[in-house]
Amino acid sequence: MPEIFVIAGPASPDLADRVAKGLGAHLVATELRVFSDGESKIKIDKMGKNCVIVQSTYPPADTHLMQALMMAIRCADGAHDVCAVIPYLAYARQDRAFLEGEVVSIALVAKLLQSAGVRHVITVDIHSKLAMSHFASVQNVSSIPLLAEYASRMMLCRPIAVSPDAGGADRAKEFAKHSKIDALVLKKSRDRTTGEVKVDEKLDIDVSGRDALLVDDMISSGGSIVKAAEVLHNRGAGKVYAMCAHALLIGDAAQKIKAAGVQDIIATNSVPGEYAKVDLSPAIVEVVKSRYSSA
Ligand code: R5P
Repeated sequence: MPEIFVIAGPASPDLADRVAKGLGAHLVATELRVFSDGESKIKIDKMGKNCVIVQSTYPPADTHLMQALMMAIRCADGAHDVCAVIPYLAYARQDRAFLEGEVVSIALVAKLLQSAGVRHVITVDIHSKLAMSHFASVQNVSSIPLLAEYASRMMLCRPIAVSPDAGGADRAKEFAKHSKIDALVLKKSRDRTTGEVKVDEKLDIDVSGRDALLVDDMISSGGSIVKAAEVLHNRGAGKVYAMCAHALLIGDAAQKIKAAGVQDIIATNSVPGEYAKVDLSPAIVEVVKSRYSSA
């Protein structure tokens, strides 16, 4: 493998450290100054020919994205390859124009990263395949094996993996396959104008007395998990847990989720914090290694 420099983004210093250790690469710190108007200034002193930037773009998404772009343009000035590890890729949900006139934001994010010098993006549990299609070179890492491994150490009663909506069906099925348990997909609908979420109470599998693991790519307002947990409880489920790659948990989302009877929130360190219980670095190290060993 060539010499790699892992650049620790201000949003992901711990993850970058773990990735650098796993790769046996140099860890480079970024010097960040945030001005009173919210603008960031980034300084990176040392870098090499192969730079791996690690910066998750969780909220404040625009700030973290801008910092990633700054890191990229700095690295591209001298590096031969710039790869960006962006576990939570902001704007991936806006992968199409849902309503006429809407901007496809993820397409813009892809263009910005590319023009800042990023040749390859590595992300985690991206919202959709369509979001990926806007990038020239992108790889999606699944956090499901790591989440399933964590769940295998929990004391659960006849567990069932549950997707809060049809869009997450493959994720819950992959989780169920890893854990050798059943999968259930809830039927959720969201009003595109008001944002109101509804979940059909009719379920395809009897969940009574069974512990449920709600598996999602991300938890933002918590609305999807709260609705799903309510339906599962109404149908007699046992303990309900929420598992996801990206626990954005905006505002009082965590409190709302707990108030809805969810025992715990288990997330990865894509977003640092008290729910970051699963380390993504082994999966990221593996894909970075394969990128550089095949180069
Ligand atoms: C939706 O399709 C996603 O997979 C998540 O379920 C959703 O974005 C979570 O958002 P919130 O927590 O605001 O319901």
